[in-house]
Amino acid sequence: MIVTTKLLFEHAYGKYAVGAYNINNAEQAMGLFKGNIDAKSPFIIQISKGARAYTDKRMLEGIIRACDEIFPEAVFAVHLDHGDEQTCYDCIDSGFYSSVMIDASHDAFEENVAITKRVVERAHAKGISVEAELGQLGGVEEDIQVDEKNAHLTDPDEAKIFVEQTGCDSLACAIGTSHGAYKFSGGQGIHFDVVGAIQKQLPGVPLVMHGSSSVPEDEVARINAAGGKLKAGAKGVDIAQYLPAAKLGVCKVNIDTDGRLVWTRVLREFFLAKPEDFDLRSSGKIFIPEYAKFIVSRSEALGSAGQLDSVRELALSKK
Ligand code: G3H
Ligand code: 13P
Ligand code: ZN
Repeated sequence: MIVTTKLLFEHAYGKYAVGAYNINNAEQAMGLFKGNIDAKSPFIIQISKGARAYTDKRMLEGIIRACDEIFPEAVFAVHLDHGDEQTCYDCIDSGFYSSVMIDASHDAFEENVAITKRVVERAHAKGISVEAELGQLGGVEEDIQVDEKNAHLTDPDEAKIFVEQTGCDSLACAIGTSHGAYKFSGGQGIHFDVVGAIQKQLPGVPLVMHGSSSVPEDEVARINAAGGKLKAGAKGVDIAQYLPAAKLGVCKVNIDTDGRLVWTRVLREFFLAKPEDFDLRSSGKIFIPEYAKFIVSRSEALGSAGQLDSVRELALSKK
């Protein structure tokens, strides 16, 4: 059942966080649904501009609608990840998305406010909620590369003004994480003091943590043992920090890189062991349950595991 992102946040706020996972193809979608059903967890599927171009937005919509039929117990929202203004309008008009993210965080504050405000107006007219971003994460995001030195954390006072002026429904904050497989090169983790200060300024407003992959050491080691060349320094968020962040109002935790690592490890190990094989289904059959297992472990760390029946009840009570 596709539900609003707002409903998922209402259920989670201050108690647990909902995992938001990027998908690009059918195998990822199958693993994602299977894992969340196994964990009895609600979840968010997110689609980036890159994914919409790679698989075609219509293909992704078809895959998700099919999964909704294959897994009728699933309760989830569909979200546009890191949208520009035009892509937001396309998703709003499609009627398929539960929420969109407008990412104008690279623009000056006033410009960010102006763009976000326009998107909020169009989205709210159709009952769709909007995630906006203030502050700048390091790492790679779509086509943009932000050096650690140019990244800057969200200012809590500015965050309050930004949410008041734009009317956005949730706020993506720069709190020390970064996109990709090489986080915390300076050795710093999540700035809990900043998250706490933002929550104080914006009580009840769902916060979003981008760049939340954990980049597991053993996954990196297995990829490299099977011929990969991930660099030393590949490092991510400690998953034990997801729940403490959730208690401070972080309702959505974005995970993409970790899924790519599972994919890379499965394929590299498979073809190393079976160089004569050329059937894409052989490795796909391993990837789907491996990705599902990964999703179960993340749902447990996020505290979303076991919440499915209660979220469904809430959703049905609002119908
Ligand atoms: O933050 C970016 C996400 O990881 C999506 O990545 O733009 O390569 O699909 P992508
Ligand atoms: P990771 O690169 O840590 O998986 O972050 C993904 C993300 O923030 C998508 O918006
Ligand atoms: Zn992101």
